[in-house]
Order: sequence, then structure tokens, then C-alpha cells
Amino acid sequence: MTRPDWHYPRKPFTHDTFVALTRGPVPAMSLFGPRRTGKTEFLLHDLGHHAADRYGHRVLYASFWQSSVAPLGLLLYAVSEALRPRSYAERVADWLRHPPVKVRIGSDKGPGALEIDLSERRTARLGQDLLLLDDLLGQLADRDKPAILLLDEVQELATAPGGGEIMAGLRTALDRRRDGLKTVFTGSSQIGLNRIFSTRDAPLYRFAAPLTLPPLGPDFVAHQLEVFHAVFQRRLDPATAQGFFDRFGGNPMAFQRWLMTLGQYRELPEDVAAERTATALAHDLDFDRIWLELQPHHRAMARILAEGDHDPFGATGAARFEALTGQPAPIPQTRQSHVRTLARRGLADQWDREWRLTDPLFEAWVLDRPEAEI
Ligand SMILES: Nc1ncnc2c1ncn2[C@@H]1O[C@H](COP(=O)(O)OP(=O)(O)OP(=O)(O)O)[C@@H](O)[C@H]1O
Ligand SMILES: [Mg+2]
Repeated sequence: MTRPDWHYPRKPFTHDTFVALTRGPVPAMSLFGPRRTGKTEFLLHDLGHHAADRYGHRVLYASFWQSSVAPLGLLLYAVSEALRPRSYAERVADWLRHPPVKVRIGSDKGPGALEIDLSERRTARLGQDLLLLDDLLGQLADRDKPAILLLDEVQELATAPGGGEIMAGLRTALDRRRDGLKTVFTGSSQIGLNRIFSTRDAPLYRFAAPLTLPPLGPDFVAHQLEVFHAVFQRRLDPATAQGFFDRFGGNPMAFQRWLMTLGQYRELPEDVAAERTATALAHDLDFDRIWLELQPHHRAMARILAEGDHDPFGATGAARFEALTGQPAPIPQTRQSHVRTLARRGLADQWDREWRLTDPLFEAWVLDRPEAEI
């Protein structure tokens, strides 16, 4: 039996992004998508796979999420690994593992080989390391088949030690090889991405064309139900499946968890499986603790953002605040400061000028809370 492939290929989006990246006028794109909606999956299994396996481009991936690893060390490691001959599948397996502590950069033996400790901050060597990065990127650049750099969770760079210098060094190195190196940066915080690409004095200011990950839809649901049938020999009602998918804001991860619950417990009715999945997800993602750590006025503002029906700082938002808390609503500036607190904790984000909760799963969970809990 062949291994079931749960990956739903985002074909048109992959094709368009690949073409724009390799043949368009811009050397980079910044891809935004809310938490857990498939950015990393798209980078690794759609775009990266398409570029490497189908068209023979060199592809590298690095995620700045792992705060235990100094970002510049991680970049040096990623670029030097990309220069070694390996299959794309082997590379993906490596990227998904945690990077080793000590790594060898450059050729395995002889001059140019360098061993570095990825946990070390190496701030004293920042200048030398940036030169090394520039040199390695120069080796990777290819005008005929541009190398594709997939840099995930890039908003973390903005706050990392030496982040400004690293971004400036990266920009210079990438700018010098606009035809030979193409980059996709991703982030799950619009505010974080803006800080990097839309702030006038930021090193990567306007370096990347913004791109939004399209939401998954009924085709994804139909695809997953087919795989489910192939694996578990069981058909699920498409309308019920679509209902669950919509309830969780079209989230692929929640949907797959629901399918796994149904696969494991055959007798479980679909709605009971839905409740169980919701509870298990909330537990894994620690939503209870996050909620309890918020003050009632923060919770009220979170709820108002989740509902999305009122202007949070206007009169309708004020009325909703009063209904939720039984207290008079504070002035708009105070409500704004509550929302900024949510943003600082990574819970709220601003897209197209509108405030929302960052994580669609948290949003669905907040909407499920009884109002009295605020
Ligand atoms: N195209 C897809 N086909 C099948 N499953 C998918 C797809 N996209 C996402 N998923 C499922 O959703 C999960 C979350 O996706 P992923 O980790 O790529 O999201 P993300 O946007 O990078 O999240 P984060 O904001 O946490 O970085 C994946 O582990 C996978 O199970
Ligand atoms: Mg990710």
C-alpha cells in the first residue's frame, strides 16, 4: 500500500508564486497567513517541492522560530547545507529536525571549513559572519535557475539580538544578486511583517512584494475526505465535514484532528467527535491558561475582536463592551491600549487596518465561551 498523502497541493497558487518569483521583476515576496493555516506546509511541500523537484532549482529553508538558535548561525548553516548535493526529500527531512548544536560550514575538509556552535550568539564576530554569509550566498546564486530561499517566521528577526545588522547584511547580499537569488519571507503577524518591510528606516524596507496565503476551501475538504476514505474505508457526510471546517475558520489542522478522532473511534458520532476535537485542541494550545491570564477588560476586547461585528473603538464597540462586562465602557484610547496589550502578547494583530485575533483557532474558542465567563 502506498503511503497516504494528506498533503493537499495548492496548485494554482504554487504555480503563480513560482512564476512571479523566478520570472517577475521582484527579488522577494513576503507571505502572510494567520497562525496555523499552512504557510510552512506551502513553503516546504508546494513551492519548495515544485522549484526543486520539478524545475531543478536549489532551495533552502530556515525558520527563525527556534529562539535557541542564533539567527545568523542558522542562516550560515542553511546556506552552506544548500550548497551540498542532496535530494529535496532529504533536505525536507533535515529542515524538520531541530538543527544540531555544532555544525560545519563550507567544504568538509581543508581550507574554508569552519565549525560553529549554533547556540552561541557570536556578536563579536558579527561582521566576519556577515561576510561569510555574503560569500556563501554568492556561491548559491544562479542566474539561469535562481536559488530559492524560504525564510519562515521572519518577524522574529526584528527582535533578535543583532537582528538589524543581519537584515541589513541580508538585504545587501540579496540585492547584489537579484537575478540569482529569490526569497520568500513568511510571517504570521502582520504587525511583525510591517515592522520589517514597511517601516521606512528598516533595512528590508519595500524589499519584498506582499502576498497573502489564500484560505483553503471546499476542494481541500473534498481532498481530505478522499484520503480519509482511502485510509479508513469510510465515507463521511460532505456537508457535515464542511460545517466543521467552517466552524474552525477553515483551519486545516483542526480539520485533520477531527478526521483522526473519527478514524480512531468508529462509533463516535460526528458532532461528538467535533466537541472532543475542540476540547483537545484547546488543551494542547493552552487556551484556558491564556484566557485566565487576561484581565476581564482584555477578555471583553478579545471577544469583540473575535466577533468582528462592531467597531471596537467606536460606539457599537462600547455598547458591546458594556453588555459583556456589565461595566461602563472606557474611552476609546483606553480600549485601544487594551488591544495593544493583546497585540504585545501575540494574541491580536492588525490586517488591512482591522484588528483581529491572531490565531483563528483561538478566535473560534473565544466565540464558544459563554458570555458570562468574561
Ligand atoms: N495544503 C495542506 N494540505 C494538508 N494539510 C495541510 C495543508 N496546509 C496545512 N496543513 C495542515 O495544517 C497544519 C498547520 O500547517 P502549517 O504548520 O504549515 O501552518 P503555519 O501557517 O506555518 O502555522 P504557524 O503559524 O504555526 O507557523 C499542518 O501541520 C498540516 O497538518
Ligand atoms: Mg509555520
